Amino acid sequence: MLQDNFGRRFYYLRLSVTDVCNFRCNYCLPDGYQCDPSVERENSLSVAEVGTVVRAFATLGTEKIRLTGGEPSLRRDLVQLIEKVSSTDGIRRVAITTNGYKLPSCIDAWHSAGLDRLNVSIDSLDRAQFHRITGHDKLHKVLAGIDRALALGIDTKVNAVLLREHNLASLSQFMHWVRETPVSLRFIELMRTGDNRDFFASNHVAGADIERHLLAEGWELVPRERDAGPAREYAHRDYAGRIGLITPYSKDFCKSCNRLRMSAQGKMHLCLFASAGIDLREAIRSGDHELVAAQVRSALSGKQASHLLESGYTGATRNLAMLGG
Ligand code: 5AD
Ligand code: SF4
Repeated sequence: MLQDNFGRRFYYLRLSVTDVCNFRCNYCLPDGYQCDPSVERENSLSVAEVGTVVRAFATLGTEKIRLTGGEPSLRRDLVQLIEKVSSTDGIRRVAITTNGYKLPSCIDAWHSAGLDRLNVSIDSLDRAQFHRITGHDKLHKVLAGIDRALALGIDTKVNAVLLREHNLASLSQFMHWVRETPVSLRFIELMRTGDNRDFFASNHVAGADIERHLLAEGWELVPRERDAGPAREYAHRDYAGRIGLITPYSKDFCKSCNRLRMSAQGKMHLCLFASAGIDLREAIRSGDHELVAAQVRSALSGKQASHLLESGYTGATRNLAMLGG
């Protein structure tokens, strides 16, 4: 089993399959994706390479793979990627993080290919506000896609980044929705990245205030599974859905870290905010999963105790589209 110098175990790999995104979320890619998508596409790990990476991690004890981006559904071969991951021995869960705009037309195919968990970003349930935050008037499509995913029985989570100047006043709309909708809604504290310094200064909201409010309203903390993400999750008997909080600036956030990251170009990142990725592409290209596994194991000795975000450090991370959050 993969274990680092601080006793943390890694059951979970977040694997980016593209840097490209078609949305322009104001905290992430306010001017849209900037490079040449055709060049990037050729550079991204192929289906066979993804197979080698996943096999390597599975032999090291990884049980859950999350496909992220950028926007993974921009890969034309996404169904094949999901099939490759879900058919790998040892992988018990296949998840995807998406902005959701392709859900209505694609979710059935992803599900048949073996997808069993879905994370969708929805930063507002108000159509105009959603449009302003993401640059796209697609809220209705995303919500229709979520309804379909729930009908298929897919475990569905929704991510909402807390933004003081944008959605903070509309939180009650989210709470109202979760009363009837069986999703896990995660409020994420905005993280400061290389590109969003001024935006961060005016929009960061501490999750702790919201957590106090939930406790006062009778929400109760749910125990965490070993391959769970970083959210603290709350349930309430009057609500069909749950509320989670992801607070990267809280003390000890990194203590329960159980995940590693791989970029779409085959660089392993020990942390979202590591100063650089470790290039495993050559080993990946060779198709030798044991060699990849050996390199992963040796790279892990460099994993630090904490991300140092609270001191303003952002490493090499200009925006999260680079690595999928
Ligand atoms: N801070 C917090 N969350 C972010 N995401 C993207 N950029 C940031 C940021 N700077 C979120 C997206 C998506 C998830 C993958 O990460 O909204 O839900
Ligand atoms: Fe928005 Fe995610 Fe795209 Fe960034 S990568 S612009 S957060 S949808």
